[in-house]
Amino acid sequence: MSSNKRKADFVWGVSTSNYQIEGAAHEDGRGPGIWDTFSAQGKIANNDNADVACDHYHRYPEDIALMRDMGVDAYRFSISWPRVLPEGRGRINEAGLAFYDRLIDRLIATGIEPWLCLYHWDLPQTLEDLGGWTARDSATWFGDFAALVGRRYGDRVKRIATFNEPAVFSLLGYAYGSHAPGKVNHDALLKVIHNVNRAHGRAVDAIRASVERASIGSIHNVQPCRPASDSAVDRIATERFDEYWNRAFPGPQILGTYPPQLAEALAPLILPGDLAEICRPIDWFGLNHYGPLYIKESTDMLKSGFGPVPAHIPRTSMGWPIEPDGLRETLLMLDRTYSLPIYVMENGTATIDHVGDNGEVLDQDRIDYLKAYIAAMDDAIAAGADVRGYFVWSLMDNFEWNSGFKERFGLIHVDYATLQRRPKASAKWYGELIRARRGKQMAAPGAETAG
Ligand code: FCB
Repeated sequence: MSSNKRKADFVWGVSTSNYQIEGAAHEDGRGPGIWDTFSAQGKIANNDNADVACDHYHRYPEDIALMRDMGVDAYRFSISWPRVLPEGRGRINEAGLAFYDRLIDRLIATGIEPWLCLYHWDLPQTLEDLGGWTARDSATWFGDFAALVGRRYGDRVKRIATFNEPAVFSLLGYAYGSHAPGKVNHDALLKVIHNVNRAHGRAVDAIRASVERASIGSIHNVQPCRPASDSAVDRIATERFDEYWNRAFPGPQILGTYPPQLAEALAPLILPGDLAEICRPIDWFGLNHYGPLYIKESTDMLKSGFGPVPAHIPRTSMGWPIEPDGLRETLLMLDRTYSLPIYVMENGTATIDHVGDNGEVLDQDRIDYLKAYIAAMDDAIAAGADVRGYFVWSLMDNFEWNSGFKERFGLIHVDYATLQRRPKASAKWYGELIRARRGKQMAAPGAETAG
């Protein structure tokens, strides 16, 4: 594709996920999911839960109007599996499916393209009780769910991702225990990795079969992993961690192979034909990126753990390092390694935001962060990386998993007592950036020429 054409088609969007914003946890027939269970076990900061969250389930028209005001091209959301299939398979919940019809139709009527992700960590509890992702059958369950979604929405939604950050939910859910289902078990972790990859392949096939002109991707967290010290043990721990964190899923899904240490560990689980089923052609690589990781040898299950961020590096309120150049480095690495068009599907920061007396939220830290990361993406594009879109995490403040509502990632502030939405200074800034970039795209000579 010519670079002018690429610029003209560049997609500017915002991202969310169902569990973090919808609420309505017990409404219209939704079944329980693993995060409901995990929250009920008191595993979330401040004992928060997402029963109400941002109440997006009822307030989605207002949220779409706020996106329209910002002028985004696209909105990435996810489907709640337990809302549409309360037991995860079998019985279909029409009321749940109808919610996403309303959402999608309104987005399209507003001129915003829906980008749908099938799985953002909200596994139906009934399936977890059958072994969840450790069960080989999970690939079939997920393939069937994908087919249902494809048949229902595929006439209107073409951009579909299978999984969001499989490495994060597998490792935090089964190696570190800090995310649902809160296990620490190496055998289970290996099964989960392989079955989630198999499930991805099934879903790709199901979407291709049910959605005409589908554009299919998979969304991965990829972060440079750096040893927390110069010691040999930290370097070895970092190499091991990098395989699990950055390569366990894109490797088999796109290249058809597991990285070496994992290939050895997984060998007993890989049946003939599995790798071919996993490695199905996809159309794009979805990247979620916030900053690099500093890894040290540890007593954790993988003998690798999260080390301290070097003192001189600035950090967000989550403690995550702010290093925009890591995004440039990652985009160029992905471009070389996987040769797929890349969409940045999540980037953003948690900041400590205050509502001023006049109702304004002046989140200059977020603006500075986004500016620097978008500049780093521009540098990667200038150096040849095929990056075709950028989505901010997140449209609005939401339930940040085990951190609960404490961490605020939104361009829009949510008052959790009243559920009032207030666009922050960053929302205005992002809207202006999109308009300015679009203006340039329109002016680019030859922008309409096909590549
Ligand atoms: C990513 C998740 C997303 C959100 C951001 C901050 O790992 O995909 O749901 O929690 O981090």
